Amino acid sequence: MRLARSLDDLRAACAALRSAHGRLALVPTMGALHAGHCALLHAASGSAGVVASIFVNPLQFAPSEDFARYPRDEAGDLAKLEASGCDLVWLPDSATMYPPGDSTTILPAGPAERWEGGARPSHFRGVATVVAKLFGQVRPDDAYFGEKDWQQVQVIRRMVLDLVLPVSVVAVATVREPDGLALSSRNRYLSSAERAKAPTLYAVLAQTAGVLASGDPAEAPLRQARAALAAVGFGLDYLELVDGPTLDPLAAARPGARLIAAARLGSVRLIDNIAIKRPGALPLDPAGA
Ligand code: PAJ
Repeated sequence: MRLARSLDDLRAACAALRSAHGRLALVPTMGALHAGHCALLHAASGSAGVVASIFVNPLQFAPSEDFARYPRDEAGDLAKLEASGCDLVWLPDSATMYPPGDSTTILPAGPAERWEGGARPSHFRGVATVVAKLFGQVRPDDAYFGEKDWQQVQVIRRMVLDLVLPVSVVAVATVREPDGLALSSRNRYLSSAERAKAPTLYAVLAQTAGVLASGDPAEAPLRQARAALAAVGFGLDYLELVDGPTLDPLAAARPGARLIAAARLGSVRLIDNIAIKRPGALPLDPAGA
């Protein structure tokens, strides 16, 4: 596994990988890697040379957020990347990503406007801008993102379409703890009492997704789900049924619908989401099983 810390090194290493493998895959990360990130690397390896980037992107954190305390562990990350089939690690510094005089950002609308975009104004501006820069630097054929951040994947797909970027976006299923909690670098900040409550978020999403699969009106099941989370002590930012690609709210499930949520336990904010399977299928209908 090679490391690149300058654009010159990156270009030379990418050219070598491309001629050895024919295709390049990029897995963008902010480090503090766990098995969720490794699943993206495993999905990417095999058919392409795999480049992972590690950059804690200041532009996607609000001043009040955890940029300074975001976990950083380069040695640990490099060991995990090597074990996960990564060929090249791109470790840019801030001046490479945001050079002096830097004046251009990407302002996504549409799927970026609500939910995470409402709770964290300008977050997706930071994400879209840094991902576009990484695409320009690495020039991957394929880029891998986790469904854990469902809205982020949709914002990036929309940006790729709108800016006609020559990259194909691949989404990888969420990796979870055995009790259902989605892996996240922020889980380490949960106290043991909060950690014990945290799996309830996914349990409530899964239970509600099953109910909504009937295609009946979503309002009552959504209200019950919100109440169930509040009852165990979550501070709810949102729990909504949305159209998967556009993130527009839905009054009832239809194909491609997604249940999304963000909720706080103490100072830790958890996000998660789940597909609604086969809306309209009866629970006992073998075709819907
Ligand atoms: P980060 O939070 O480090 O996540 C990097 C990638 O790993 C994202 O695509 C994210 O969705 C995926 N991921 C995180 N937890 C996962 C899990 N439990 N299962 C599957 N995939 C998971 O997301 C970012 O960084 C940044 O916004 C970035 C895209 C790198 C831009 O700065």
